[in-house]
Amino acid sequence: MDIQSAERKIKDLQNILNQYNYEYHVLDTPSVPDSEYDRLMNELTALEEQFPQLKTEDSPTQRVGGEILDMFEKVEHETSMLSLGNAFNEQDLRDFDRRVRQNAGDDVTYVCELKIDGLAVSLRYENGLFSIGATRGDGTIGENITANLRTIRSIPLRLKEEVSIEVRGEAFMPRKSFEALNQAKEERGEEAFANPRNAAAGSLRQLDPKIAASRNLDIYVYGLANADELGIAAHSEGLDYLEKLGFKTNKERKKCDSIEEVIEYVTDWTEKRPQLSYDIDGIVIKVDGYEQQEQLGTTAKSPRWAIAYKFPAEEVITILKDIELSIGRTGVLTPTAILEPVRVAGTTVQRASLHNEDLIREKDIKIGDHVVVKKAGDIIPEVVNVLPERRTGDEVDFQMPTVCPECGSELVRLEGEVALRCINPKCPAQIREGLIHFVSRNAMNIDGLGEKVVSQLFSEKLIEDVADLYKLTFEQLIQLARMGEKSVQNLLSAIEASKKNSLEKLLFGLGIRHVGAKAAKTLSMTFHSMEQLSSASREQLIEINEIGDKMADAIASYFEQEEALELIQELKNAGVNMEYLGPKRVSAENIDSVFAGKTIVLTGKLELFSRNEAKQKIEALGGNVSGSVSKKTDIVIAGEDAGSKLKKAEELGITVWNEERLAEELNK
Ligand code: IVH
Repeated sequence: MDIQSAERKIKDLQNILNQYNYEYHVLDTPSVPDSEYDRLMNELTALEEQFPQLKTEDSPTQRVGGEILDMFEKVEHETSMLSLGNAFNEQDLRDFDRRVRQNAGDDVTYVCELKIDGLAVSLRYENGLFSIGATRGDGTIGENITANLRTIRSIPLRLKEEVSIEVRGEAFMPRKSFEALNQAKEERGEEAFANPRNAAAGSLRQLDPKIAASRNLDIYVYGLANADELGIAAHSEGLDYLEKLGFKTNKERKKCDSIEEVIEYVTDWTEKRPQLSYDIDGIVIKVDGYEQQEQLGTTAKSPRWAIAYKFPAEEVITILKDIELSIGRTGVLTPTAILEPVRVAGTTVQRASLHNEDLIREKDIKIGDHVVVKKAGDIIPEVVNVLPERRTGDEVDFQMPTVCPECGSELVRLEGEVALRCINPKCPAQIREGLIHFVSRNAMNIDGLGEKVVSQLFSEKLIEDVADLYKLTFEQLIQLARMGEKSVQNLLSAIEASKKNSLEKLLFGLGIRHVGAKAAKTLSMTFHSMEQLSSASREQLIEINEIGDKMADAIASYFEQEEALELIQELKNAGVNMEYLGPKRVSAENIDSVFAGKTIVLTGKLELFSRNEAKQKIEALGGNVSGSVSKKTDIVIAGEDAGSKLKKAEELGITVWNEERLAEELNK
């Protein structure tokens, strides 16, 4: 074939494939069988391979890029991406209507739309060609995720007119795709996504566009960023225009001439919501006329011409089949409700924590009860109440055991606590949970070591304590179920990489009583190394602002245990880092400041700044604000009524400033 005929043929194939793609993914009315589409696609791919100079960016063969990105670049939005104010009930909607009428007159039309539960994206087109797609980010600057958005088939790569526009919409994962994805993830022993929104966001945050391409994402576009330049008078016309350009808009939108009609739409969709094939979390109500929108204007955060009605958390009824007991890493016994699987807020729920015995008594929960279930914060399943009127008499009272279900030792209720605890330090459940905690995200963050793998390693006695993780070999891991060569290699490199973690991750991972991620960070910043921390006295610990009596006691007694010290030594021998590697606070622009690289302690009452303000300002100038005075302290800022820290500073001969001096330096 000569190049001219190839060019003609390629154009024809691109046009027809774009049309088929549009019919299938945007209009949802395919006109040819998949096999025909595939045949033409193969033909186009072959021709483009033969004539690579004729391959263009907007060709339907070019949806999935081959390149894996190092990171996402930042993109500044041409107009900021605002969010919406919320309405939770009818009254909030009526109040919104009143405000609108007061400021834009009585002649107002609203457009009601489904509030798609995905993530906001911005799509820029130059002369009809898709050029940049970005996340919302902070509203002003987002991340360039063009390569991932190109893989969404309902996003046109080329518009039906050669216009330059910026379009806003919601990328989402349909329920079916979400379920299939989670099932596959579970089969591979990976953590499932909590809901379709997280799954969509997670997919678009991947640096390899092949992953996004495999996730069956979709989009509804809901607005134009620069409508005024296009001579359009109303939002509803804008949507019609977007449709004409080839975009997918949501068909369930409706124009309403009164707030009564809006309320009817809201009521209607509250009911019909489960029938949709995708998740919505509310209804968006917008003033239609652009001129009126302009009149109403925006606040710093959101437009006054629109509002988002949020659905109340979905509640469903199911049966509580059983109550399971588990021992956590601190020995606490937690009862969990085992539910007849039920769909709520986007996922199937089959377990819900019941926290403790008191809660079971308070809610009068019996095994076999019908219960109302919801997801708190749309994520965590919770038993709201039981339905005693549905009892048949076959329900059974629940009895808490008196001994640990895992090791058989007597359970105790510590003074002032509602929880029952197993206090056997050798309890296998506690050890296993401690191991799971050690590898978890906020601790050592070892990818590929989920709950299942850790439990397996533990039950096969390949690991007995956290130091054993660093002795695992290829030969041991390859024998585990579902472990291929590649995953073993990845796991070994993840374990190796964790040795370089900064101290706070290790400290949190060790699971010292009362030491959460935040306290671990504070301790690490203050003491810099495990060695310093382990020799800190209870008094030194209490001097730190955020550390209370209970935590100081727990830390001091942890480091008094022979076993703990041995474990730390073993980790150290394995090459695990024991130092704080936190952000260096001295940067080029504040190298000249008196605070650069210095450790400063604030004490006493400050008048001119709040504690936090002073801390932030000092840190911005390269200083390090610490909670306790030691030989490493460079300057102590003493406000009114400064006490023991000031005394100590004087004893150690450390420079002391008053607040005025601090203000002077900060304002330089
Ligand atoms: S309009 C300035 N319409 O809901 C107005 N938003 O805070 C911009 N959303 O994150 C939003 N469906 O991504 C609009 N039909 C719809 C929507 C919608 C979902 C999301 C949007 C934003 C949030 C509103």
